[in-house]
Amino acid sequence: MSSLTPEPKLSIEQASQLLAFAEAAAHNSYSPYSRFRVGAALLLTSGEIVTGCNVENCSYRLTCCAEQSAIVRAVAEHGPAMRLRAVAVENLNGAASMPCGACRQTLAEFGDDGVPILYPGEGGEPRETTLGELLPHAFRLEYLGER
Ligand code: THU
Repeated sequence: MSSLTPEPKLSIEQASQLLAFAEAAAHNSYSPYSRFRVGAALLLTSGEIVTGCNVENCSYRLTCCAEQSAIVRAVAEHGPAMRLRAVAVENLNGAASMPCGACRQTLAEFGDDGVPILYPGEGGEPRETTLGELLPHAFRLEYLGER
């Protein structure tokens, strides 16, 4: 399902709106162990925005990243055919951060290579890349029939 033509970039207004949703979601982060408060906002191709935050666990490996909680919520609320138009990630720590490897694979399940990803760079400055740049040659399986 990877596309060769990159999706259009978001307008400045769309990008800052999506980042604002991600930042708002980070305020709900449950992160007593790392104190790293992350929020993610997904813009779906339907135009809807779905957010998530990281949810940690005292058994550390059970922690759910913000991007993953947003994906789970998007499927739960909008069904299995939902597709990503863009993704924004923010944290309240003023740190540069990008989606982790596991999150990249999770996002790739629902988005093409050209999906824009907005993230905080050095000094918290918003930066933009694409899913295909973050996860080149993603593992993808063709599925049979309807989702
Ligand atoms: N975290 C995310 O929510 N998203 C990422 O892509 C990277 C890491 C969270 C997991 C954990 O709660 C905290 O950040 C520190 O790793």
